[in-house]
Amino acid sequence: MSWWWAGAIGAAAKSKQDRLDDDVPQYQSVGLVIGVTGIVGNSLAEILPLSDTPGGPWKVYGVARSPRPKWSADHQIEYIQCDVADRDQTMGKLGALADVTHIFYATWSGQLNEGERCAENGNMLRNVLDAVVPNAANLKHVSLVTGLKHYTGPYVMTGKIESHEPPFCETMPRLKYENVYYTLEDVLFDQVSKRDGALTYSVHRPSIMFGFSLRSKVNFVSTLCVYAAICKHLGTKLKYPGTKKSWEGYWDASDADLIAEQQIWAVVDPYAKNEAFNCSNGDVYKTKQLWRILAEEFGVEYEDVVEGHQGMSVGDMMKDKGPVWDEIVKANGLEPSELGQVANWPSMDFLFNAEPVMGCMNKSKEHGFSGFRNSKTSFTSWIDKLRGYKIVP
Ligand SMILES: NC(=O)c1ccc[n+]([C@@H]2O[C@H](COP(=O)([O-])OP(=O)(O)OC[C@H]3O[C@@H](n4cnc5c(N)ncnc54)[C@H](OP(=O)(O)O)[C@@H]3O)[C@@H](O)[C@H]2O)c1
Repeated sequence: MSWWWAGAIGAAAKSKQDRLDDDVPQYQSVGLVIGVTGIVGNSLAEILPLSDTPGGPWKVYGVARSPRPKWSADHQIEYIQCDVADRDQTMGKLGALADVTHIFYATWSGQLNEGERCAENGNMLRNVLDAVVPNAANLKHVSLVTGLKHYTGPYVMTGKIESHEPPFCETMPRLKYENVYYTLEDVLFDQVSKRDGALTYSVHRPSIMFGFSLRSKVNFVSTLCVYAAICKHLGTKLKYPGTKKSWEGYWDASDADLIAEQQIWAVVDPYAKNEAFNCSNGDVYKTKQLWRILAEEFGVEYEDVVEGHQGMSVGDMMKDKGPVWDEIVKANGLEPSELGQVANWPSMDFLFNAEPVMGCMNKSKEHGFSGFRNSKTSFTSWIDKLRGYKIVP
């Protein structure tokens, strides 16, 4: 029996005519997106409600702490303001959502210390599951987004602990070091194991994400656009602040819409259940190729990185550029934003100085997910979207 039919019987006293008059669409699935204004959450909020999305028609609840931003106003979702780190609030607000069939967990809290990060993020997921699992009788699947740090360990431990060699594949064992992604998986596995097969899961491990959000802790595309816009405004060259190794090496990326598509595939395909999958575009790029695109997009000259090139901290270079960004916003009639909202320098400093990494997509393909993106066109398409919403010039 489909869940909505059971729900309709549950509403017993209502006549057929009343039910027809209700004008309530007959949803096949009800998604609860945690982190709905984040990079992945924003793509899910756009794609899930579309009429041809597999598993649909979908009703979608979307959760974030802040008020609903203007740029997400067109998404066909029910927006719920809730801090999932607050257990009482989560139990109250999400415990009431008895019709949820699928949870898409795409949020994180970013303390620097990995122990604190594990505790905080573990609690957030636990709160959501404790609120929803006992109250949503038709809950079928939980989809968890993590990332390639599963294979490398936390940023701060890079180079200090032994990690796996890329390309990473899902069969690689966990590292012997605490990792927020292991904590999240364990919280999830614990809940799933208590439900005797009635609840399934999938874990999705993207690389650097290309997507759209102004509520993101790490948005690679918007940060690069803002950097380029500031260089253009100041009349300086688009210098690469990283190492030659990261400039020349091969990287992969994950288009946010592709991540959403893989999550939706895992919801509907029985062969994808209770598995973890890397999720990247399926091609590779060199940072220097993206740099060329970025320079062209913003009409600014760039410098090649040659032997002897000294890396610098983009965080240091940009630390006093808040007023410059304010001028750019004003001069170009952009939506008001603070520099720290649209650019995240510490993550760029990390990436520009890191050893290139990538995930292998074989398992995903072997299990039947054939989605892919051209990383270069993905990059420009998100720049276009940022421009379309007047976030960058
Ligand atoms: N960004 C990347 O490039 C990248 C790459 C690989 C892996 N990942 C991983 O992908 C996963 C999803 O990350 P993301 O980058 O898509 O997230 P994100 O862009 O930083 O967005 C986080 C979302 O969660 C909401 N949120 C934060 N704290 C919350 C709380 N306590 N209660 C309710 N909502 C909360 C935020 O809105 P409010 O602030 O308004 O609450 C926002 O909607 C994470 O595990 C991350 O580590 C990210």
